[in-house]
Amino acid sequence: MKISKVIIPVAGWGTRSLPATKNLPKEILPVFKKPCIQYIVEETIDSGIENVVFVTNKNKTIIEDHFDYNLSLEWVLERSGKMELLKEVRKVAELVNIITVRQKRQMGLGHAVLCAKEVIKDEPFAVIVGDDLLFSSVPGIKQLIDIAQAENMAVIGVMPVEKNKVSNYGIISAEEIGPHLYRVRDLQEKPSVEEAASNLAVVGRYILTPQIFYYLEKIFDPSMNQELELTEGLRMLAKENKLLAVRLQGMRFDIGNWVDYLIANIYFAIQDEELRDDIIKRIRELIPCS
Ligand code: G1P
Repeated sequence: MKISKVIIPVAGWGTRSLPATKNLPKEILPVFKKPCIQYIVEETIDSGIENVVFVTNKNKTIIEDHFDYNLSLEWVLERSGKMELLKEVRKVAELVNIITVRQKRQMGLGHAVLCAKEVIKDEPFAVIVGDDLLFSSVPGIKQLIDIAQAENMAVIGVMPVEKNKVSNYGIISAEEIGPHLYRVRDLQEKPSVEEAASNLAVVGRYILTPQIFYYLEKIFDPSMNQELELTEGLRMLAKENKLLAVRLQGMRFDIGNWVDYLIANIYFAIQDEELRDDIIKRIRELIPCS
């Protein structure tokens, strides 16, 4: 099983991050020195995937631009001898092949994935949700690719969440079949605490087979004017025993959550040797009795 493409849906409104995202895509919000979408794209590159399919809308062209050359800026940097910065801004354009697909109406994650069907064609592919950052020695999506290749099956990434957070996520009901590995029996999209079958939440990383398009098309009725959840397509795979889940290892930040967003910034900033001591000192000053 070769995974050469990743779908990254970026057409959402980012309402959780308002007012910062009134005119700025949430994916461009910086986490320390880079827009958060760059971490996602770097995760795919580090996992051996070279083609990124952004499912986007007309207000999000700045995301594609970030992964393109900016010749006037490069010229200015070159003329002023800022060669390190020049290398850094150029590198981004050289990272990946970008393909964009328009999601003309925002009709849910399942619909966003379906929009990329003609680009994906008949190959297994990855999906990463653009606001879930995950950091670990083996990149998050690579952890799924390894299992998908070994088992020749669709795999989703899950992590345990606090019981009172289950209603923010897709939740699996599953049977453990190996270390960190589950056979998914069913899924619930954002269940209440009382209804949730477990606290294992889907955290925005998927390796899927093209069969998912068939299921999504089967349940999608555009005239209904309601969201097409990816979870509904995944449930159909699960019913046929064709879906595994891997408990992902690493540190996760949901950048649509302000606490996670700010902590992600600090997490990266304190890894910068030059800034570390100063940042810690300033935080201590902010919270004197800590
Ligand atoms: C989507 C999925 C949900 C998943 C979540 C992960 O929800 O529908 O199953 O748990 O992404 O971030 P959203 O956050 O787009 O509402």
